[in-house]
Amino acid sequence: MSVETKFKDITTATFARKKRNNEKLTMLTAYDFSTAKYFDEAGVDSILVGDSLGMVVLGYDSTVHVTMNDMLTFTAAVARGAKRCLVVADMPFMSYHLSVEEAVKNAGNLIKAGASAVKLEGASEHILNVVKRCVESGIPVVGHLGFTPQYLNVLGGYKVQGKSAQNTMFIMNQAKKLQNAGAFCVVLEMVPEESAKFITEHLDIPTIGIGAGRYTTGQVLVADDILGKFSEFKPKFARKYADLHSIISDAAAKYISDVTNGNFPSVSEVFHLDDESISELKELLENNNNECSCSK
Ligand code: KIV
Repeated sequence: MSVETKFKDITTATFARKKRNNEKLTMLTAYDFSTAKYFDEAGVDSILVGDSLGMVVLGYDSTVHVTMNDMLTFTAAVARGAKRCLVVADMPFMSYHLSVEEAVKNAGNLIKAGASAVKLEGASEHILNVVKRCVESGIPVVGHLGFTPQYLNVLGGYKVQGKSAQNTMFIMNQAKKLQNAGAFCVVLEMVPEESAKFITEHLDIPTIGIGAGRYTTGQVLVADDILGKFSEFKPKFARKYADLHSIISDAAAKYISDVTNGNFPSVSEVFHLDDESISELKELLENNNNECSCSK
């Protein structure tokens, strides 16, 4: 029996090539099968199953409530829809902090669920060990620096990071450590454009920016932001390409009105019994009534 292995069109090698050739990388988040399918068919390089799903899908006020089980479910759904692009799954809060063993096991489970790589935040000694052990185990890793949402309570709010030469150098050193530990890419979130440019120019691996200006190797945005679906707030750096909030609200209001006014369903939207079955049903009803009155 021959086993055919279908490799994705986009791999970690594509990321490296685009960095070498000065080509832009595109990444979007997605959390469900059909959105992943649409983004994949549109030609995006990578889909991130971000733990931002905690806010935009599950309605929490931050990402720290997201569990491994949440990530496994949404990663599997996205992986079924994304046939050609590289699927990266976020490791949720506290899934990689307690021990290297537990971190590698959790990362492995995200790969088994269908991800091609995992992303984790920070660059402490422990995180660098996790990155090394994941890569040694065959799990590609994306780093995440600058504003790191899982550290929201330590950072004291949604604040731009790397706002001085010293802080920029600090993030650059973190990025280099991640690169040396084996990460194939680093996300830079909410850092000044000049800092992100400096860091990008001093790394061999690609950077993907979100709120990090124009000079990172690639860009990532949250699906619900570009689609205009998440209406709680709009980050300065997000661009809205559609207004799904209005489209969804209008569709729901029209449906409610149609049902209320008897305009839905229409004749073409129902199933029918044939005439013979209708006559038979009438006979059955008569017999049934007779039986009921006899037994009284
Ligand atoms: O969870 C997420 O969506 C992310 C992006 C903001 C990069 O990590």
